[in-house]
Amino acid sequence: MTTLNLGADELLTTTRSVRLRLDFDRPVEREVIEECIRVAQQAPSASNSQTAHFVAVADPAKKAALAELWRKGRSVYATLPIAWQNYHYEDPAHAAALPAMGRSVNHLAANLERVPVIVVPCVTFRTDGADVLFQALVWGAVLPSVWSFCLAARERELGTCWTTIHLAYEKEAAEILGIPYDEVMQVALLPVAYTQGTDFKPARRLPVDRIVHWDSW
Ligand SMILES: Cc1cc2nc3c(=O)[nH]c(=O)nc-3n(C[C@H](O)[C@H](O)[C@H](O)COP(=O)(O)O)c2cc1C
Repeated sequence: MTTLNLGADELLTTTRSVRLRLDFDRPVEREVIEECIRVAQQAPSASNSQTAHFVAVADPAKKAALAELWRKGRSVYATLPIAWQNYHYEDPAHAAALPAMGRSVNHLAANLERVPVIVVPCVTFRTDGADVLFQALVWGAVLPSVWSFCLAARERELGTCWTTIHLAYEKEAAEILGIPYDEVMQVALLPVAYTQGTDFKPARRLPVDRIVHWDSW
């Protein structure tokens, strides 16, 4: 297994949402996925609860069924206030980048079943209708490990893209994957594949003084 030996800041600033440069034809070894999960397990989890689980899907029929839900989820996403179609972008350069992002999403939508592995991170609580404290504890018990998985994957020449839209059909996905829906909540869906080239750049972000609030908002 090759590792890129990226420095911490380079790893953190160049782990991108990869859609266009996923290599659909190069197999991803089970051991690499498990090693990334081992790294991800070191992330903090609320109450040291160890409630994060990862369903790694390599079965072609299951990947195809998940991809179908993902495609259907796009129209549900489009109704949400955070969807790119509805969100007000402060930086015109961000707005200008949307067509390229749309093309990238279309490419993933058309090819999702072709990725060697789809990873569905889960947490063993449900937060439906819960208050912010419980939401924060449960989501916080799993999402740091999801990002650690993406970072560990990048270090091993793998690309990931954090996605969520299949959650519009979470129950159907649970049935496909045999997840006990009443106790276990899916939190994301990560396509995982080797990348075409390993050079990725930091993305454009707002100047930090637009998002830092010293002492008051
Ligand atoms: C919480 C969250 C949910 C996301 N959901 C999706 C998704 O469902 N489908 C998708 O293609 N990308 C999804 N993305 C990826 C973003 O669209 C991506 O980060 C965006 O293209 C900006 O790219 P950048 O983060 O590299 O700047 C999601 C990212 C996050 C953090």
